[in-house]
Amino acid sequence: MDNSDLASLSKHVQTLITKYPDINAVWLNAGIQYSYSFADPINGSKHTDEAIIREITVNLTAHTILARHFVPFLLTQKFETVLMLTSSGIAYLPLSQFPVYGATKAATHHLCCAMRDQLADTNVRVLELATPYVATDLDKEHKEASKGAPPPMPLEEYTDKVFEILDGSEAKELKEVGVGFAQMGVGKWREAFGPVLEGIGSKA
Ligand SMILES: NC(=O)c1ccc[n+]([C@@H]2O[C@H](COP(=O)([O-])OP(=O)(O)OC[C@H]3O[C@@H](n4cnc5c(N)ncnc54)[C@H](OP(=O)(O)O)[C@@H]3O)[C@@H](O)[C@H]2O)c1
Repeated sequence: MDNSDLASLSKHVQTLITKYPDINAVWLNAGIQYSYSFADPINGSKHTDEAIIREITVNLTAHTILARHFVPFLLTQKFETVLMLTSSGIAYLPLSQFPVYGATKAATHHLCCAMRDQLADTNVRVLELATPYVATDLDKEHKEASKGAPPPMPLEEYTDKVFEILDGSEAKELKEVGVGFAQMGVGKWREAFGPVLEGIGSKA
C-alpha cells in the first residue's frame, strides 16, 4: 500500500485487523529521505512543494493517522500490545542535509512520547525505534549528502543489535530502542528531560 494515499489508510487498517484479529504488535516503519537546501532557487530544484508534502506525508502524517486507527483496536485486545514507530538519530541531532526529513523524525519522537504518556496505564506500549545510519536504500539517490559521516552500519549488524535490546532483561522498561549514534541522542535527551518529565508527572 502507498501510505501517502491518506484517505485509504483507515480501510487498510480495518482489512488488517479483520484478517488478523490477534495482532499484538504494529510497527510503523515506512520512510523516505530527501536532501535539499532552502538556499536552492525556486525553479529547477529538487526542493519542490510536492517533495516537501510527500516527505512529511509519508514519514509523519500517515503514521499519525495509522496510529489513530490502530490504537483503539489494540486497546480492545486482552493481552499486552506494542505500537512501534521508527524515528532516527537525526531526531536528536539535526543534520542540515536533511532538513524536512529531520523535522519529521523529531516530530515522530514527540508523537511517541505523547502517545506513551496517554497510554501509560493501558495494554498498549509505545516504542520508538531510534535508528542510526544503516546501509539501506534510504539514501540511494543522494549518497553524497552523507559524505564525511561515519560509514553506515551493515543492516544485519543493526538488526542483531535491535533484537539483542528487545530480548534483553530491561526490555519491559524500554521507551526508545536506540543503537549506536542514535542511542547517544536518546541517552542525552533522556538525561536532560527525563527528570523534568517525571517532575510534571508525565510517563512520556
Ligand atoms: N537507513 C538509515 O540510515 C535510517 C536511519 C534512521 C532511520 N531510518 C528509518 O528507517 C525506516 C526504514 O527505512 P530504510 O532505511 O529501511 O530505507 P529503505 O530501504 O528505503 O526502505 C524504506 C521503506 O519504506 C517504505 N515506503 C517508502 N515510501 C512508502 C510509501 N509511500 N508507502 C508505504 N511504504 C513506503 C518502503 O516500502 P517499499 O519497499 O514497498 O517501497 C520500504 O519498506 C524509515 O522510516 C527511515 O526513515 C533509516
